[in-house]
This record gives sequence, structure tokens and C-alpha cells, in this order.
Amino acid sequence: MSKKSSKITTIIGTQWGDEGKGKITDFFAGEADYVVRFHGGNNAGHTVIVDGDTYKLHLIPSGVLYSHPLSVIGNGVVIDPSALIKEIKYLQEKGVDPNLKVSDRAHVILPYHIEMDIALTKHQGELAAGSTKRGIAPVYGDKMYRHGIRMIDLLEPEVFKDKLEKAFSFNMTLIKAFGHTSDLNKNDIFNKYIEFGKFLKPYISDVSVDLYSSYKSGSSILFEGAQGISLDVDHGVYPHTTSSNTLAGHISSGTGITFRKIDRVIGVTKAYLSRVGQSPLPTELEGDESITLRDKGGEYGTTTGRPRRVGWLDLVQVRQAVRTNGLSEIALTKLDILSGFEELPICHSYKVGDKIIKEMPASLSDFRKSKPVYETLEGWGDITSDMIKEGFDALPLTLRNYVKYIEGQIDCKITIISVGPQRHETIIR
Ligand code: GDP
Ligand code: IMO
Ligand code: MG
Repeated sequence: MSKKSSKITTIIGTQWGDEGKGKITDFFAGEADYVVRFHGGNNAGHTVIVDGDTYKLHLIPSGVLYSHPLSVIGNGVVIDPSALIKEIKYLQEKGVDPNLKVSDRAHVILPYHIEMDIALTKHQGELAAGSTKRGIAPVYGDKMYRHGIRMIDLLEPEVFKDKLEKAFSFNMTLIKAFGHTSDLNKNDIFNKYIEFGKFLKPYISDVSVDLYSSYKSGSSILFEGAQGISLDVDHGVYPHTTSSNTLAGHISSGTGITFRKIDRVIGVTKAYLSRVGQSPLPTELEGDESITLRDKGGEYGTTTGRPRRVGWLDLVQVRQAVRTNGLSEIALTKLDILSGFEELPICHSYKVGDKIIKEMPASLSDFRKSKPVYETLEGWGDITSDMIKEGFDALPLTLRNYVKYIEGQIDCKITIISVGPQRHETIIR
């Protein structure tokens, strides 16, 4: 299959995030005219390795490492300007000058959002998601309350001052009501953010209009999702989710362009499971097995460095991702990490009391009680560079059986196989 077979391609997480979306986005980005983020913020952490050099990206799309595509941050993304500036400078120091546009309508994370995030997480206790403490829930909250601050406001001091007045007093009242002390100062924030605005001004524009006219004139667009299905605020394991929709369906509202057809929606699925943060996790591994898998897979958060919880592949979750995203295909990543395991359990259903269920329950108490029902498959040994060169049919039979078993359970083709973090360690089937 040719990489340039469509005009609109979307990369979407089908689990708990960290599936390898950055690597797969980078794989396709070289042939795109635009690479676009449409939701989330710097809670995301996408790792791309090019020629042995590792790049960790949080806000800027993973296409930035090519010179051609324009990187776009859509209005659905929430932006911490200091994190964005840091990322621009980090890339410049590595010799990459980002060709970047940022939506004038994207909401801005302010220091009180980060303090609120910490206070909220403490307040919510068992019901929290274990956030990345980047201010994500509070900034999306302020957007819905309609006193949020947008990128354009940083360029209009009078408007910014008025809005900050409202939002600052609202957030500080709550932070203090939660019993937290804070030494944040409104004037300091104002002055600092006006300076951020000056720095970012050349990047800020109405990207919806730019994207629409480029789409009309035949440009190809690659959308890079962040997080994954179980973190979606509507369809995920609520309330242990993030605060945005993570589905492909959010592209229109998160970028302001509408189109009749997305040609390819590629779900990225890790061959096992990892999760940072708090929630029940039916296939979670404990003890030595979890340590082996975590260390072998390098399962430590890109954003917070937290050790990721790990478990066996959960197809109940992936089945939901196929349906709700309308996935046209799946990229299965990190199969190399499973090399050496003699047996590989795959969860195809949950047992809740006496019932067997195949779809994610809405009921939190059912989800807490869900026990994985496994099919156990035979493992495989090392994957060699010759196998990668020769393609899918040269891979071990037991690995190919693993791939085929998944396809049979979720009714979706697996067209991309990733067996290492580097660009060339990718097999198109
Ligand atoms: P994302 O959030 O979905 O972009 O994923 P992250 O970048 O946070 O985490 C995925 C990690 O796995 C990164 O360190 C990648 O370099 C790495 N990775 C991606 N695909 C593969 C693969 O097929 N094999 C191995 N060994 N590592 C991979
Ligand atoms: P990428 O794009 C993994 C998790 C957090 C927490 C929950 C809510 O790298 O796949 P938030 O800070 O959003 O309020 O946290 O969501 N989380 C992620 N986990 N990968 C991510 O992004 C994540 N973004 C948020 O750990 O459980
Ligand atoms: Mg990540």
C-alpha cells in the first residue's frame, strides 16, 4: 500500500495513550502538507526517533521533524505558552526551526490552572484520573464556563486584562476554598503572558481558514491524535479520563474545518497495554512479570516520567476504539517488546459476575468488577533486521497468529506492524 494514498489521514490512540502515535505520525508525515494537532495539550508526550536522535514533543505535531509539512495546533488544543516556547527553543537548539501555526482560538493554560489541577486531584481522591498536573481539566473547565483566555487575547492587552480579572478571582477563590495557599499574583501573570504573546505573535493565525483553503486546493492533511479511547471524556472510563474528546470525530470542532470524508483513520494499538494515572485496569500485571514488561518496554511516562502500569492486550477496549472512531485500519506497535515471552494472554471479553461482556461498560462498578477473559497464544523469539526487510511473511508464525487473532476479534485490518522505535522498523502489510 502506498503511503500517499489519501488526502486526509488520522492517527488515533486506541488504548490509554502512549501507544506509539508519535512514531506512526512521523512515519506518514513526510508525505503530508499539513500535520495537525486537534485536542489535548502538553499532557501528551510523543516520542520520535530519527537517525538515532530522540525528540520528545508535547504540543508541536510530530511532523515537525520534516522540512516540508506545516505544523498546525488547532483551536481544540489547550496551550501553556511557556511550554510551547520551551518546545520551540528545544527544537531550534536541535537544529529544527518549526514551521508552525497556532490557532488564535486555542485556549491558554495559566498558572492558576496548574494549582487548581493539583487541588482538584487531591479533592477527588479515589475518583481522580491521576492527572499530569498540566492544568488540563481546569483550562477546559474555564472554556466551558466561558471565562477562558484564548491565544488571541494575549495580543489584545485590554481584553486580556478584563478576562483575567474574572478568571483569576474565580480560580483563586476555589483554590483557597480547597485549603491551598497560593502566592500567585495577577499583575505578574498579566505582564508575563503579554510577553509570551509578543514571542508567539508570528505563529498565531486563523488556522481554520488556512486549512480549509488548503484542503479545497488538494493539500494532504495528517491529523495527529493525542491520548486514547479510554481517556476520552465521553467514551472513556469516566471520570478517570482526560478532559477532551480524543476521538477522530473531534477533528471538526477542534480545527474548524469540515470535510465529507477522512480517507484513512489509523488506530494505533500497542501489542500489550500501559497506563499512567489512576483507574481500574482489568488486565494489569503485578509482581515480577510487570517489572519485566515495564523495563523491557521502557514504560515510563514521556511527560511526567511516572512508571506506567502495564498489562496484557485488552481487546474489549480496542473493539470500542474501532467502532467509535470508524477505524479503517490499525498500526500494531511494540511487538518486539513481547519477544521472549513463552505465552501471551489476550483479553477478548470481561466477566462481570455471571455475565460475559464484549463492550466497555458505562457502569463504574461493573468496570471495577470486570475480570479479563483470556485466550492464551504462543510467544515468539527475536525479530531480526532481515525479517524487517523481508516483510510480514518473514516474521515468526506465532507473531503472525497473534496479529490474525486480534483482527478476528475486533473486525479491523492490521496494516502496519511496528517492531522498534525507529522509522525503518515499520512493516507495511
Ligand atoms: P505516544 O504518546 O502514543 O506518541 O507514545 P509515546 O511516545 O509516549 O510512547 C511510546 C514509546 O514507545 C516511545 O518511547 C517510542 O519511541 C516507543 N515505540 C514506538 N513504537 C515502538 C515499537 O514498535 N517498538 C519499540 N520497542 N518502541 C516503540
Ligand atoms: P499521549 O498523547 C497517557 C492521562 C493522565 C491521567 C488522565 C488525565 O502521550 O498518549 P490530564 O492531565 O489529561 O488531566 O490527565 O489522562 N493522560 C495520558 N496518559 N498518554 C497521554 O497522552 C496522556 N494524556 C493524559 O495520566 O490519567
Ligand atoms: Mg505519550
